Order: sequence, then C-alpha cells, then structure tokens
Amino acid sequence: MKKKSKLSSPLLHLVLGALLLLVLMLVREFRSGEARKRPAAPSPTAASAPLAKRAENADPFSPERLVDLGERVLFGNNNPRLDSDQGLPVGPGQCPSCHKILPEQPPNRFPPLIGVMARAGERIKEERYQAFARRHTEAGEPKTGIRPHAKTAGEYVIESIYCPSCYVVEGLGIHDSNDTVSMMPLIPRPDLGLSDYEMAAVVAYLQAVEAQGDLSKVTAKEDWENYFGRQLTLPEGADKKPLSVAVPQDLSKVGLSKEPPDVIIEKLACYVCHKIPTVRIAQVGTIGPVLTLKTTAEKRIQSPEYQRALSEGKVRATTPKQYVIESILNPSGFIVPGFDDAMPKNFKERLTFGAAENLAEFLLTLDEGAMENQFQPASDDAGSVSKMRD
Ligand code: HEC
Ligand code: HEC
Repeated sequence: MKKKSKLSSPLLHLVLGALLLLVLMLVREFRSGEARKRPAAPSPTAASAPLAKRAENADPFSPERLVDLGERVLFGNNNPRLDSDQGLPVGPGQCPSCHKILPEQPPNRFPPLIGVMARAGERIKEERYQAFARRHTEAGEPKTGIRPHAKTAGEYVIESIYCPSCYVVEGLGIHDSNDTVSMMPLIPRPDLGLSDYEMAAVVAYLQAVEAQGDLSKVTAKEDWENYFGRQLTLPEGADKKPLSVAVPQDLSKVGLSKEPPDVIIEKLACYVCHKIPTVRIAQVGTIGPVLTLKTTAEKRIQSPEYQRALSEGKVRATTPKQYVIESILNPSGFIVPGFDDAMPKNFKERLTFGAAENLAEFLLTLDEGAMENQFQPASDDAGSVSKMRD
C-alpha cells in the first residue's frame, strides 16, 4: 500500500501538470481568438469603427468626408464622449447642448437625435405636419419664409434645422405660442458662420450613426439638394481654411478675464439659449430667460423660491452680482421658475473667475428697456415674442 502510493504521486503530478498546460494553452488560444474577432464586432460608440477610413476620400461631398465633418461640427472632435472632466463635447453646431446624441448623455425633455431618422419618416406623415404645411403655404413660416415641404426623413431633419418653426414638436414651442413657434434657435445663420455644407454634414453623421455605419444610407447631400432645389456647394474659402477643425479642449473654449462680454457670450454659446439685449448675436435664444438682470436679479433673490433654496443651503447669494455669478457657475442651485434645468454645468471649468465677474457686471447693466431700445435685429418677428416671466 505504502509503496504504491509513493510511486503514483510523481505520476499524478505529471498527469496534472500536463492537464494544466493543456488548459492554459486552450485559454490562451480562446482569448486571442476573441481579441482577433473584437474589432470587427459592431461598436455601439457612434459610427466610429466602420468609419475609420472615412476622411481619406478626396471628394468633399463623399459620405465619408461629410460624416467626418458632421461629427466635428456636432462635437468639436472625432472621438466624442461624455467625460467627467471635460463634460459634454459641444462643437460649433451646438446641437448636443440641447439634444441627446451620445448614448451616455442623460435624457432631457428635448427630442433625442438618437433615432431621429426613423421618427422623421413618421413625422412627415402626421396630420399635424400637414397642418403646419397648410398654415404656411401662402407666405411661408414668418421667420424664414420657408414653406414646410419635407418629402423624406433626411429632408425633414434639414427642414428642422433651417426652419425650426416649420413643425414644432408638441409641448416644445415657446411660451404663449401654442406650439407654433419653436424653442430651437436658427443655427445656420450667416453671423454664426455655419455653412450649408456643414449642416448637410451634420445630417450625414446622424444618418450614418442610425444606419450603424452603413454609408450607403447617407443621403444628406441629395436630401439637401432636393429640399432646396439647388446644388450644395462648398463654403467660400473652404480650400484655404480647414473646415471646423477640431477645437482642442484648450483656451479657445475658455472665457478669459481680458475678453469683452460679447466675445465670451459667443465663445461659450450663451446666445443659443438666451436673448441678451445689445448683444447682436444673442437675439434668438428661448430656452433660458431673457438676460435683463438689472431688472430681475434683485427680484430673484427676494422670491420665495430663492429664499427656500437659500435656507436649504443650495445657494448663497445676497447681492445681484453674487446671484449672477452663481447662476453661471452653479446653475442647478436655483432654477428660475418656469424654466428647465438646461443650463450647461461646466462653466466653472470654462470661465476664469475674473471672466465670470466681468460677465456678471455686464449683464447687470441690462434692464428690460434695453431690449426695446437696442438695434433692430434683421427680420424681427414672431420668433422674438418675449419670454420674460416674473
Ligand atoms: C437651444 C436648444 C437647441 C439646439 C442648440 C438645437 N436644437 Fe434641435 N430642437 C430643440 C427643440 C426645443 C426642439 C423641439 C421643437 C421643435 O420641434 O422645433 C428641437 C427639434 C429638433 C428636431 C426635430 C425633432 C423631432 O423629433 O421632430 C431636429 C431634427 C433637431 N432639433 C435637430 C437639431 C440639430 C441638428 C441641431 C444642431 C445643428 C439642433 N437641433 C440644435 C432645441 C435645440
Ligand atoms: C443650453 C441652454 C443654455 C445655455 C447655453 C446657457 N444658459 Fe443660462 N440658463 C438656461 C436656462 C434654461 C436658465 C433658467 C434655469 C436656471 O435657472 O438654471 C438659465 C439661467 C441663467 C441665468 C439666470 C437668469 C435669471 O433671470 O435669473 C443667468 C444669469 C444665465 N443663465 C447666464 C448664462 C450665461 C452667461 C451663459 C453663457 C456663459 C448661459 N447662461 C448659457 C439655459 C442656458
């Protein structure tokens, strides 16, 4: 007995050892097989994987090039992700500041642009869309003169960008407009410097993502041309300057103390959501209140809602200047009644304190009268219905 067990022990070790080696080899083989397969699997992060070679096509109107540019117009770069340090990537097109486009973006009450192509195809069949079309057959939609006439999903998205009030999603019209005037600002305006080419690129990107990278589904150029009945062209000077090159997360996106308020308002895109008297670029925003803080700051502080937030320790301003700085740097502490908590949360990182202070001082010079006495913006009309609430 004793002898037998002594003999079998080394044998057992040998057998076990061989088995272990085999298992290890199998595991390694399996792992590397998996790794080899992985890049080919469809990636849920935007359209990146299948579009890896996208920018190499020489034709600026090729789907590859359009999708590539569209991503940069939307997010400012080609590797967009929601990052706890940098916050939401927002490019010159501004769309992600209101619409959920990245899967990891939190939902909000505005229509998500994830899945928008499928929804767009349904929208144009709605009786409600036909009603908008009938309402604007004669003169066109007042602000843009465009008559709603989208025939395809791509055309509907183009129409939404060029004429937000051609069809207004229920519940998302500006205050008192009975959903006839959209809260969405007009983005392709000459003064904002965004070209038709860049807008078509945004649509191309949305189409590519929704088709999971299948570029044969990218019809943005044709959609644009069919919608407007003319050829899509490159913006002037496109051959000289690169289009919407990636804006690195650096000083070009940070408001500095030495910069005048209107520069900061443009850089940080406050105009997208706010009307700001005397600032030419800021005449269309309706998502946030009109900024006439000389009139409103003191009233806000006195309001029962603010006093409640104060007693709960969420806010701490006692002077108008503190209130304005706080509204910019800590926007969720107090929400102006009647509005959403839609203000970007990362201005803390994007403004030096000096710049926030200068901005606050400037905003505190603007009272309600300034809105009426300022220059007349081109084609002032129904879109400028005041949304002030006190
Ligand atoms: C300041 C906020 C804001 C910004 C910035 C913005 N939108 Fe909108 N958008 C809205 C709101 C609010 C609506 C819903 C009202 C309406 O139908 O116009 C909307 C509606 C839309 C719709 C129609 C969606 C549907 O379900 O029918 C599309 C498409 C759209 N936006 C695309 C864009 C694109 C593309 C950009 C960037 C170029 C953009 N939006 C920028 C606020 C915004
Ligand atoms: C995406 C939309 C959006 C952008 C961009 C935005 N805001 Fe706002 N802002 C809002 C909304 C919505 C409110 C009202 C809700 C609240 O109090 O947070 C608001 C409120 C404010 C208030 C308080 C106004 C009052 O009447 O009490 C100030 C001040 C303000 N914003 C300044 C700014 C400045 C300065 C910028 C640019 C640096 C900016 N906002 C950019 C949406 C925006």
